[in-house]
This record gives sequence, C-alpha cells and structure tokens, in this order.
Amino acid sequence: MRVLGIESSCDETGAAVVDDAGVVLSDVVQSQVDLHARYGGVIPELASRDHLKNLGPVVRDALARANVTWDDIDGIAVTNRPGLVGALLVGVQAAKGLAWARGLPLVGVDHLVGHLLAVFLRRKPDAEPPPDFPFVALLASGGHTAIYRVDGPRAADVRELGATRDDAAGEAYDKVAKLLGLGYPGGPVVDRLAAKGDPHAVKLTLPMGHTKTFDLSFSGIKTQVASLVRERGVPDSEQGIADICASFQTAVTSVLAKKLVEAAVREGVSTVVLGGGVAANKELRARTRELAEARGMRAVVPDLASCTDNAAMIAYAGLVRLRAGERDSWDLVATSATSLPRTTRKGRGAR
Ligand code: KG4
Ligand code: ZN
Repeated sequence: MRVLGIESSCDETGAAVVDDAGVVLSDVVQSQVDLHARYGGVIPELASRDHLKNLGPVVRDALARANVTWDDIDGIAVTNRPGLVGALLVGVQAAKGLAWARGLPLVGVDHLVGHLLAVFLRRKPDAEPPPDFPFVALLASGGHTAIYRVDGPRAADVRELGATRDDAAGEAYDKVAKLLGLGYPGGPVVDRLAAKGDPHAVKLTLPMGHTKTFDLSFSGIKTQVASLVRERGVPDSEQGIADICASFQTAVTSVLAKKLVEAAVREGVSTVVLGGGVAANKELRARTRELAEARGMRAVVPDLASCTDNAAMIAYAGLVRLRAGERDSWDLVATSATSLPRTTRKGRGAR
C-alpha cells in the first residue's frame, strides 16, 4: 500500500509518498521560512497564498521523486487539523480534488497524531526499529507541548498526561531568539549557540520543574530572558548570547526529559518517544536517551527530517486509518482544534 500525504497546516508545504512499512519513498518540504522571517512569525494570509502557489508542484515532485505514477497510489491523507484554517483549507481542498479525480479514498489526519507517529518512518535501510505500543511520548512543537500515553496509532488510543499551561516549548525558543535578535525560527539557532555557551553563566529556571504534575510552563522563562535583556541589553559578544542560550536550553530540556521519563515510570511503560520540531534539539535528544537508559527504558527519537513539519508523517498516520478501512467523506472540514483529548487548560491546569 502506498499513500500520498499532504501537509499545509502552518508554514511548510509538504507532499510525501510512504508505504505500509513506513518506508519514505519521497518527502518534499517547501519551507516558507524566508517569507515570514522579516515579520518574526507566521503571517496566516501569506502562508495560505504560498501554499496555493506551491502545492501543485510539490505534489508532482513527490510522485516523481518516489518514482511512482498515480496508478501506484492507494489513498490520499491530508492534515485537516489543528493549524491555520486558511492554510489547512488549501491542502484539504487539493486532496479532495485529487482523490475525486483519481477515484482514491481520502482520510483527514490530525497533525499531532502525525508527529506522534513520525517515529515509525523509515528513511534509511538501517533505521532504528520502531517502538512497541504502549509508549509515553513528548510532543513539543511551535504550537503544542504535551506528554501523552500512546496505546495505539489512532487518536482514540492517545491520552494526555500533562501539557503546557501557557506557551509551547518551540514558541518559547522562538520568543527568546527574537529577544536576542537571532531571527525566526529560533529553535535551530538557539540549539547551535547553546552548544558553545556556559549554562551556569546566567541563572534561568523553568517554572513547574519540580512539581509532581506532568504539566509544564514556558512563559515564565521567556519573561526572565526579557527582564535580563531589559536590564543589561542584548550581550554584545557571541559568547554572551551563547551563555543565555545555554542556560535557557538546559533549563527547558532537562525539565522536558525528566517529566517524560517520570511519566513513563508512573504509567509502567518502558518506552519513551519524542516528536515535534523541538525533538530535533540535540540536547533534548541526548538527555532523553540518557535518563531513559538510567531507568532501563528504551528511548526512540525520530530522524531529524521527521521532527519538523513534513508530509511523510501525515501519509503514515493516514495509512494506518486507510488500512483499518476508514474513509472520510467529501464533507471533511479544516479546523483549528486538535481531535486529541485535552485535560490541561491554558492558565489553569487540570480540568
Ligand atoms: O513541529 P514544527 O515544525 O511545527 C509545528 O507544528 O509547530 O515545530 C516548529 C518549532 C519551532 O518553534 C522551532 O523553533 C522549533 O520547532 N525547533 C527547535 C529546533 N528545531 C526546530 N527547537 C529547539 N531546537 C531545535 N533544534
Ligand atoms: Zn508540527
């Protein structure tokens, strides 16, 4: 079975072909980062227009690179939630048109489920074996940060154990980078600079780091960096900036890794998994492996290309639904809300 995946929820236009073993036959990502960089964040209307312009060529490219024709495709999976509605609509309408024209089954995919299953993608022959269910996963991206128990590959098999009460982890990276004049998106550049910095030179702490809940909070540490910059200005040496990055990154990644592993201990689960753009972070990957190993657990981290937004993870999550005989109708809608149950509310904690 081969599925074409389409992703347009935010600022990446993606199309990919994946088979039922999770082998990525092609994965085309057209990033809009240059388009939004000058504004310091994603401008929804510009994102939608760019998806509209690029989706056709990106889909054609995905088929060509996979060396397949439409006759080799068994279904179409498209991200229909959560995300920017105008951006999602471009992918959903294109997927409907293509499915109708080719007589193919269509399924909508929750982008967060895509991130949770990214670890099943196989991009090279010697890829690490995928995890067994159940596992506990940390999903940390630009829009979402939560810890889930995952009992199977469908949205109904996923339970939230804790989540951020304010900003997402990637959002905190992006805001801190903006305060330090490092541009957008902030994650990769802060990650790179942090490796050169001294995490003890500046003291930054992550709120809720020591609580017994699996809830998280990232807006406080961003405020600490903002106060620092207000009082002392942005450091004029690269070393000074690197020290702030290192302190920020150590605080964020140590709490994330610790809570993920502790959640798995509480659930009696022996595998932990990372997903989402922040899962590309070197320190988070290393800390998670280290803490998991110390507890006798297996840590499975996706390839770097599977962490940030891509259509291969959408194709795979859709393939799971198609294989189970599920289909969506032409009424499939784009919506900004996730289908995953949420137990943590912004600002308040558990419901
Ligand atoms: O999953 P993703 O591509 O898009 C969303 O669904 O949000 O995640 C993007 C986020 C951005 O906030 C970006 O700064 C962050 O992931 N990110 C990183 C790294 N690479 C991307 N954060 C920390 N370290 C990285 N290496
Ligand atoms: Zn994402």
